[in-house]
Amino acid sequence: MYLDYNSAHGDCVPRKLQWFGFDWKFKLEEEKDFRSVQLPHDWSVEYGFDENAPSYGSGGYVKAGKGVYVKRFCVSPSAKGKIISLHFDGVYMCASVSLNGHEIGEHVYGYTPFELNITDHLNFSAENELTVKVDNSRQPGSRWYSGSGITRDLWIKAVSPAHIKTFGTFIRVKNIKEACAASSSSACLLIDTDIVLPKEESRQAQLNTLIFDKDDNIISEISAAVNSSGIESQELKVPSPRLWSDIDPYMYRAESRLIIDGEITDTYKTPFGIRNISFDADKGFIINGRQVKLRGVCLHHDGGSTGAAVPLKLWRRRLEKLIEMGVNAVRFSHNPPDPELLDLCDCLGLYVMDEAFDEWALLKSKALGSNTHQSSGYSQWFDKHHEEDLTAMILRDRNHPSVIIWSIGNEVPEQTHPEGHNVAQKLIDICRKHDPGRLCTQANDQICAEPRAATEAFLDTLDIAGYNYTGRWRSRAETLYETDKRANPKRIIIGTENTSASGMRSDYRLETACFKHWQNLYYTAAARVQKLLRFTETHDYVAGDFMWTGIDHLGEANWPNRSASCGVLDTCGFPKDHFYFYKSIWRREEPFVYIFPHWNLDLPQDTVIPVLCYTNCEQAQLFVNGKSYGKKAYSYPLYGMTETYGHFDKPPVPINTDDMFLSWDVPYAPGTIEVTGFNDGKEVCRHSVKTAGVPARLSASIDSVKLISDGRDIAHIEVKIMDADNLFCPHANNRIYIDIDGPAGLIGIDNGRPDCKDSFKGNNMEAMAGLLLIIIRSKQEEGEIKIKLRAGGLKGCELKIRGEL
Ligand code: GAL
Repeated sequence: MYLDYNSAHGDCVPRKLQWFGFDWKFKLEEEKDFRSVQLPHDWSVEYGFDENAPSYGSGGYVKAGKGVYVKRFCVSPSAKGKIISLHFDGVYMCASVSLNGHEIGEHVYGYTPFELNITDHLNFSAENELTVKVDNSRQPGSRWYSGSGITRDLWIKAVSPAHIKTFGTFIRVKNIKEACAASSSSACLLIDTDIVLPKEESRQAQLNTLIFDKDDNIISEISAAVNSSGIESQELKVPSPRLWSDIDPYMYRAESRLIIDGEITDTYKTPFGIRNISFDADKGFIINGRQVKLRGVCLHHDGGSTGAAVPLKLWRRRLEKLIEMGVNAVRFSHNPPDPELLDLCDCLGLYVMDEAFDEWALLKSKALGSNTHQSSGYSQWFDKHHEEDLTAMILRDRNHPSVIIWSIGNEVPEQTHPEGHNVAQKLIDICRKHDPGRLCTQANDQICAEPRAATEAFLDTLDIAGYNYTGRWRSRAETLYETDKRANPKRIIIGTENTSASGMRSDYRLETACFKHWQNLYYTAAARVQKLLRFTETHDYVAGDFMWTGIDHLGEANWPNRSASCGVLDTCGFPKDHFYFYKSIWRREEPFVYIFPHWNLDLPQDTVIPVLCYTNCEQAQLFVNGKSYGKKAYSYPLYGMTETYGHFDKPPVPINTDDMFLSWDVPYAPGTIEVTGFNDGKEVCRHSVKTAGVPARLSASIDSVKLISDGRDIAHIEVKIMDADNLFCPHANNRIYIDIDGPAGLIGIDNGRPDCKDSFKGNNMEAMAGLLLIIIRSKQEEGEIKIKLRAGGLKGCELKIRGEL
């Protein structure tokens, strides 16, 4: 039973917004029987991988096609008189919705929210049947894995005829500079609230807006009479504003109450932050007066084994790892993200580039310079839907303090077209109309490209020039942004997309790297990316960079691979070696050393191989089986004399390399490699890697102490293969089986290997390089959950966790 008005719970009484994800039936169009599913749901990830799948390598060789969802539900008669709608956070794609046989509405783009009013066709005295048809049959339909289905949350909402519109609030700060100055004693908020007010209720209506701090104290309040539908503007003061930023992501909340005849008829909550951001052509990104380099990653929307239906906790685990690496910014490439993800970025203090499209009116094709497969992407819908979709993104996301830039597109062919700037201008105008403050970019991969380059007119239209693959053409890898800065001193420059160190966990081949598949030789990966990294870090006018990518994604692959290994985390969120490279440059505070490769290599004794060390220490010394291979040092940032000629703040350490990492060539001999880190001549940390013996047992850890038995909570189980002496076996690929007893189910199993074709939904998979990730989800039942893990010939293990409310 949904929308029971006698119960007093609900997030925003009296407005009802209930999650609508349970008790759905689903089938593909060609299937006979429906089966039970829970939303969010992605069917593409459930049918395995097929080299001939029409989604092709771009889509990850999965099934797409058409699917039907059906749900039967009752609505309490107490909801009569309310406006009842369905709010979809995202359906991939071409959704058509009907209720009790009546067509309700349609929505094309898979990444934007939409709301459908179902009141007129609801039955309050009998069961209702809701049908959502999803058509993802035009394949290949995306350059990356899109997933198929109701891939994001669905909500049922009931409001009074007098109510506040969805995404109907817009909170800004007046005189933002002064309000966010160190000396500021208060900030004046400008709050626009979009109200629907039927004529008969207009005489007695009031809009009451309250501001709550993080601890739920009311810190400000204002009331005003409202006479008609439309936008109501209010101003109110926040005393001693606490500013939002990456170092203190402090969130406030506005509560807008619509009061009629003294009774609250609607409440709408808007989390927001107070911060002053700007971009400067010479200083890059500035927040609250502080210059911050954007150390960003591009991220696609899938969650690995969960496909496109990604629980928020999964994102939290991934983003926290990226933050540990030093990341402070995320570009949601190339589509508006799941809205919950922006809440998460608000809370974690991550800066967001929010991107609308990968294609405008011109199809991305090889002829127009696309680097990947041609697909029937958004271009076929652009003319008809761009305004609606871009508007939905801006209205939905404009109150998030984390969102610092709108990106209107990625590598659109229009950048080189003589009329392309007009399209860009049209899109920027839409952004400005709904959010006059934020700046807009487009990610250009054709700056200085041949035979066609992005036009000056196009680049001039953008507030911020986004550079993808900055050094790609001619000798630009030597000069990077320099020539453009000289020619266009007023241009605001940002690296919207550039290569990451990529590669696969534990891939220590000494030769044959294939760039196309994001394979990298382990000992050259950092060398390939360090030049741009150093340049970006040391040139103020480059606002930052977003590497391609932070995390491996499904699709964009060539058989036998079904996913792309361009991330620093794999699809399981396990760090690759190069995670520590970025960390060594971006996280300078805690000294650490990291040494690789692992020491279970399949090599003849005494083969000379490179051993690498990523560290933020001044010096590091390598030992192989107790024998020293000497101290080495690199210097970053390079520093010079201070105060007087010949004086240094601390004695300079002699450096052996101009690289940003250390490397020794040593003869391979099983045993132990160890590296010691030194600062000021003193040992401060060490890391060793030992040759492990034969795999003997499984070890597992879980990242929660309990599962909330709401049917939605998840936990991650990391499984490791160990030898008899409890050493991690980086060479072990044993097949691991999982059995769950109790109120939880498995929703994903993954090893991070791009060419693994085992089902993400099965109860077993081979480990990859000693590791496996299992994701479990609670059921709506309390009780003990036992997770048993076993692998042939190895000692298994068991974890216990309670499911409770
Ligand atoms: C870029 C594109 C990304 C991805 C990447 C692969 O040009 O924006 O979506 O395809 O190339 O290298």
